[in-house]
Amino acid sequence: MEQQLQNLLIIVVRKLRQLHTTQEFNNYWLSIFGKSGQFARILKLLKEANKTEKPRLGKLTNEIKFKIENAFEKKKLELARSALTESIDVTLPGSKPPLGHLHLVTQAIEEITRIFEYIGFTRRRYPQIEWEWYAFESLNMPKDHPARDDFETFFVDAPPGEKLGRMLLSPHTSSGQVREMERVNHAPPIRMINIAKCYRPNWDLSHVPMFHQFEGLVIDQGITITQLKGTMDYFAKAFFGPSRKTRLRPFHFQFTEPSFEVDISCGVCLGKGTLPAGGKCRLCKEGWLELGGSGMVHPNVLKAGKIDSEKYTGFAFGWGVERTYMMKSGTQLDDIRLLYSNDVRFLEQF
Ligand code: PHE
Repeated sequence: MEQQLQNLLIIVVRKLRQLHTTQEFNNYWLSIFGKSGQFARILKLLKEANKTEKPRLGKLTNEIKFKIENAFEKKKLELARSALTESIDVTLPGSKPPLGHLHLVTQAIEEITRIFEYIGFTRRRYPQIEWEWYAFESLNMPKDHPARDDFETFFVDAPPGEKLGRMLLSPHTSSGQVREMERVNHAPPIRMINIAKCYRPNWDLSHVPMFHQFEGLVIDQGITITQLKGTMDYFAKAFFGPSRKTRLRPFHFQFTEPSFEVDISCGVCLGKGTLPAGGKCRLCKEGWLELGGSGMVHPNVLKAGKIDSEKYTGFAFGWGVERTYMMKSGTQLDDIRLLYSNDVRFLEQF
């Protein structure tokens, strides 16, 4: 028994050196001092020892027990100290949780909204699931008119309305034009900026089936192309930078007359079409980039909105948010689908 006591002390001291956690420590303590631990077994032997040996063995047991307890106590302190230094170092900088931010399309929408609000436009929202009448008919595109082909459309499998026709996912924000005329009770002035999701079944480098447009509509007495051009110039400078210019290029839309495409001077060659080092600009080729459609509101559209086209005139424009954003110098996005791939490595950059 004497030998067992001595051995136990040696084993415990050696084993304690190998423990690293409080959990391990507690388990080991139990295996020694627990009810059926190793020490309890030795005490049993002590009980069975003969009378002459008992006092000496009892004393020895006490001494060894004291030493083992001391070894445990030392280890306990050591573990506590290392736990302290591991978990709290008040001089270290705190760990920052990752912070998200608004998606860059949302950022662009907010910026565009602010730019137009500054000159008196108000943001409106109209349905994304729309009637054929607002998306086409009211915009001077009667049933079976070939101009409708320009706006490839997702139709909704729902019962058609009598006057309003089929339901569809709005292919452009122009569907909000006559809705806005109704909202003001057919009584201009109107100065709306309608920014919304639009849908067309396309999927390639420069098209996604769901995208955003912003649509301006101004109707009042005496509105002319001059104001349209002035508004375009103002937006181009505010959004793209003070050195950018716009031009109106004759075009055709059923709902505007006359109609224009709005071009903006290229930010790379500064509208020259050639580079200082020689050769054509690779981005624009001739100095201009196409932004989107515009024109003077067609009298038939005013009529659909029950507004007197003899008294009132207006202009409208409608551009893609993503497209416009991609033209911002420095963005250098060459695939629109990246915007919706939800790859954080890409989105984090903006
Ligand atoms: N709705 C047209 C489009 O999606 C753009 C446009 C809007 C043109 C307003 C003229 C006036 O292509």
